[in-house]
Amino acid sequence: MLKQYDTLVQEVLEDIFKITRSDDKKLNTIIKEYFLNGGKRVRVLLLLICANLGDFEKNKKNIIRIASIVEIIHTASLIHDDIIDKAKTRRGQTTMSRAYGEEYALYVGDYLFATVLREIAEFKDERLHMYLSNTLKELCIGEIIQEEGLYNIRTRRTDYLKKIKRKTAILIAFATSAGSIVSCASNENIQRSYAFGYYLGMSYQIIDDYLDFAGGSETLGKEIGQDLINGNITLPAIIAREHNSALFKNFSKDSSLEEKQNLIKFIKNTESILDETLEISQRYLEKALLNIENLGNDNVKEELVFVMDKLARREN
Ligand code: FPP
Ligand code: MG
Repeated sequence: MLKQYDTLVQEVLEDIFKITRSDDKKLNTIIKEYFLNGGKRVRVLLLLICANLGDFEKNKKNIIRIASIVEIIHTASLIHDDIIDKAKTRRGQTTMSRAYGEEYALYVGDYLFATVLREIAEFKDERLHMYLSNTLKELCIGEIIQEEGLYNIRTRRTDYLKKIKRKTAILIAFATSAGSIVSCASNENIQRSYAFGYYLGMSYQIIDDYLDFAGGSETLGKEIGQDLINGNITLPAIIAREHNSALFKNFSKDSSLEEKQNLIKFIKNTESILDETLEISQRYLEKALLNIENLGNDNVKEELVFVMDKLARREN
């Protein structure tokens, strides 16, 4: 299933290389290598699927372009995120900041964001401009909240959920709704695809945070336990603290790596914490599903459910 999207995803990549090309050869090569180095391309795929809610063929050029824009935003935010997190690897490769230095990576991220601004200007639909600028604003606020909340062991579930809504769910909702807006789908389906993307995005980040404890670094392509090592209190850590507040009594910036690793090991080995995390992610998936019940397009629904199931069972 979904094989028919392979060529379209390829077209999106070609389009990305086209719109990011500059007369700096080194930059072109680095950008090309970075985009070709895998990634699940979840946002692109979801956008392309939702674009079948309207007239795909008639609007194909714009659909490919908006998919490029979404993938560029996602990639640029990861390049910046890896600088902030001081990450060594992503997708099984050395991060851009490690390979070329933090300053260089920062500028590449900025350059990619600048490309997005130029390309979105070509779109006439005001909703895209409103949603996109709001998405970027929320993304930044999500990161700021995360930064402010580092090592705060009093972080509650609601704080966490508000943060992941901003840093992850809203961009996925932008992707799904942009697909339907650009293909000229009905207003009802634009709303449904937005809500679907939003709830799927919430579940996506919860699984990401679960895998940061439960995954294996080989399959993940990045080191595990990094959230807690960086002081980022995610849902598994919040649940662990709810079960036993003494666990985090001495957790602070000054905790040693060994103390942090013991906590990570404890969470990784406590099934009830991991199960509860997955249960919460499952509740968001159910909400996502409810929103595509009445799309009036069984193919699109079936494909979205397929992607949803794959993401729920993913190991990276
Ligand atoms: C990965 O999450 C990071 C994000 C979802 C968002 C990062 C956003 C920024 C750095 C702000 C972008 C800047 C502008 C100008 C819009 P994670 O750290 O939980 O995942 P990971 O474990 O894969 O690193
Ligand atoms: Mg990160």
